[in-house]
Amino acid sequence: MKKRILSGAQPSGQLHIGNYFGMIERMIQFQNESELFCFVANYHSMTSISDKVKLEENTREAFIDLLALGIDPDQSTFWVQSHVPEVTELAWILSNFASVGLMQRSTSYKDKIANGLKPNMGLFSYPILMASDILLFQSEIVPVGKDQKQHLEMTRDIAIKFNNSFGEIFTIPEIEIDKSNEVVVGVDNQKMSKSYNNTIPIFADNDTIKNQVMNIVTDSAGLNEPKDKNTPLFKIYSLFLNDESKKELAERYDTPGLKYMDIKNELIETIISFFELQRSKREQLLANPDEVNQKMILGQNKAKKIAQKTLQEVKSATGLL
Ligand code: ADP
Ligand code: TRP
Repeated sequence: MKKRILSGAQPSGQLHIGNYFGMIERMIQFQNESELFCFVANYHSMTSISDKVKLEENTREAFIDLLALGIDPDQSTFWVQSHVPEVTELAWILSNFASVGLMQRSTSYKDKIANGLKPNMGLFSYPILMASDILLFQSEIVPVGKDQKQHLEMTRDIAIKFNNSFGEIFTIPEIEIDKSNEVVVGVDNQKMSKSYNNTIPIFADNDTIKNQVMNIVTDSAGLNEPKDKNTPLFKIYSLFLNDESKKELAERYDTPGLKYMDIKNELIETIISFFELQRSKREQLLANPDEVNQKMILGQNKAKKIAQKTLQEVKSATGLL
């Protein structure tokens, strides 16, 4: 039996290479060997976006970007979260199995408030909606970056509590974090994140990619000294290299004479050519809105079938007539 894998991305800004290597690349690889469920988490984005046009545009753009990166709506189930509103009904039911103390311990909630988001109930109960996304589709594996680990633990906790009361209704999901890319660093060596303004967006124009690579912080080691590999330029470049090329890069870092500017110029070329095919697929999708709409409807229909089945089981188990 193929394993059921699910993950989602918020349409809160341009997708960046941290999203790609932390989550998207693995989802695409999983498509052949598993049953992939992937969605654009636009309900979740309401916690940070209160502009109608921005939410609409970002949602559509994230859907197109994920298609261009290789999510195949025929092979997988790929939808926009709000097109399957059953998820919010389940979230309400699950909220009765999520303790306030558990939510209060959310590090992501605390971080977001520290970064200026409003501490409203949407933000506070964000992990319950996320649990609903995962449990509604009976997901077995959830591939995410390390920052989502606690959310996944909360999902498991909620599912176990629910099952203890009503029987084995929900699959308890496993967390899947890619050890080699668990935290992709940004140009400033912090975690790459839309909220920190330190990203390299996948589909930015060439000048933006150039500028961002030029912004990668480097140290002041002299030309004739070996260079430190535990630095953002080395780490970001390595993401794009196979083991052999990574070894070669490491040797160049160990050999005096390396100029950071040469490495930056190579990295710019590498990033642009790495996503070249995806970029032209994206252009083609942007020019064909009807094709995109059809893919959205296809995903909605596929996802709804499963969502309704689980929701029915939950309602009948809990006594909701
Ligand atoms: P952001 O922090 O930029 O807002 P999201 O929270 O939308 O990113 O993350 C979408 C997915 O990409 C999640 O699975 C998340 O764990 C992963 N991800 C985001 N940033 C990184 C990163 N710097 N390194 C690894 N994975 C990441
Ligand atoms: N919270 C996730 C993020 O910010 C997005 C998300 C929403 C998600 N629902 C999910 C990820 C369910 C995995 C499974 O990245």
